Amino acid sequence: MMSQTTSGPQPVVTERSPSNTWTVLDLLRWTADHFTSCGIETARLDAECLLAFALGIERVGLYIDFEKPVEAAERDVFRELVRRRAKERIPVAQLLGRREFWSLSLSVTSDVLAPRPETETLVEAALRYLPAAAESRVLDLGTGSGAIALALASERPQARFVATDVSEAALAVARKNAEALGLTDRFETRQGTLFEPVAGERFDLVVSNPPYVAEKSRPHLAPELSHEPAIALFAGPEGLDVLEPLIKGVGTVLVPGGMAAIELSSEQVPAMIECCGEAGLVEASSIRDLAGRERVIVARSRGTEGPR
Ligand SMILES: C[S@@+](CC[C@H](N)C(=O)[O-])C[C@H]1O[C@@H](n2cnc3c(N)ncnc32)[C@H](O)[C@@H]1O
Repeated sequence: MMSQTTSGPQPVVTERSPSNTWTVLDLLRWTADHFTSCGIETARLDAECLLAFALGIERVGLYIDFEKPVEAAERDVFRELVRRRAKERIPVAQLLGRREFWSLSLSVTSDVLAPRPETETLVEAALRYLPAAAESRVLDLGTGSGAIALALASERPQARFVATDVSEAALAVARKNAEALGLTDRFETRQGTLFEPVAGERFDLVVSNPPYVAEKSRPHLAPELSHEPAIALFAGPEGLDVLEPLIKGVGTVLVPGGMAAIELSSEQVPAMIECCGEAGLVEASSIRDLAGRERVIVARSRGTEGPR
C-alpha cells in the first residue's frame, strides 16, 4: 500500500471501504495529508492531478467516482508519481508532461518553464493591442514552451508570430506545441539572445516574459524551482539582466505606435516604467494580476500610427 513505499511521516487512512480496498477518495485523502506533511502547499490539488493522470481520466472524473476501487497496477503508477512529487519535489507539470495555459494543453519538459497562471494577465493585456481583423506581426521574446504566442495565436487567426529563445531545447518544445495545436503556419521559431534573431525587423506587438528573478533570492525559493531551467528564471543580482536591455531595445523592433507588453515582478515596476521613458517609449503603465500584484508593464513606441 501507499504507506509502505513512501518516505517521511506516514498519514493514516482512517476511513477505508468495507472491503479494505483503496478507493479514489481514500487515496486522495491519504496523499493530500502526506503532501501537506511534506510542506506542499497545493496538496489536495496535486493529489487530484496525479491520481487523475494515473487513472487516465480528467480530474473532474475523480468526483464522479469517489468510491471506485483503484486497481493495483494503477496504484503502482500513482505511488511512483507521489514519491517523486513528495521526495524529489518535481513539479506536477513535469510529472504529467503537460500544463494547461489559456485553456490550451501544452507539452512541458524540464527544458522549459511551466507556464504560470499569472502570465495569462500578459496574454489578456496583449489581446487588447491585437485587433482581431488585422494581420499583425508579433514577437514573443523568450518563448519557452510557446505559451504566450500560442495563446495569442489561438485567439487571433490573422496574426503571425516569431517566437525566440536562447535555448534551442525550449524552442523544440514550443514547435511541438505549435504542431499539436495546428498553428505552425503562423508560428516561426528562432534561436538567439534578445533582439539578435530579429535584427532589422519590425513588429506591431512585442510580448515577453523574460527571466526576472534576482540571483540573490535563489536560496530562498521553493525546491520545485530547482527542476526548472535556471536560464528561464534568474537574470543577474537584481533580476534585471534581461529585462533592462529588453526595454531599452524594444523600440528598435517596434513599428511606430507599436506596443510592448512585458511581465516582471511588482518590485521591479517603478524602475522599469522609468526605464521605458528613458528608452523613448510612451504611455507606460502597469497591469495587476488576479492576486492584485503589478505583473505586466505595457508601453508604446513613439509614432502616430497604432498597431496595424
Ligand atoms: C520566464 S521563461 C518564460 C517562458 C514562456 N514565455 C512563459 O511565459 O511561460 C523565460 C524564457 O526566456 C528565455 N531566455 C532567457 N534569457 C534570454 C535571452 N537573453 N534572450 C532570449 N530568451 C531568453 C529562457 O530560455 C526562457 O525560455
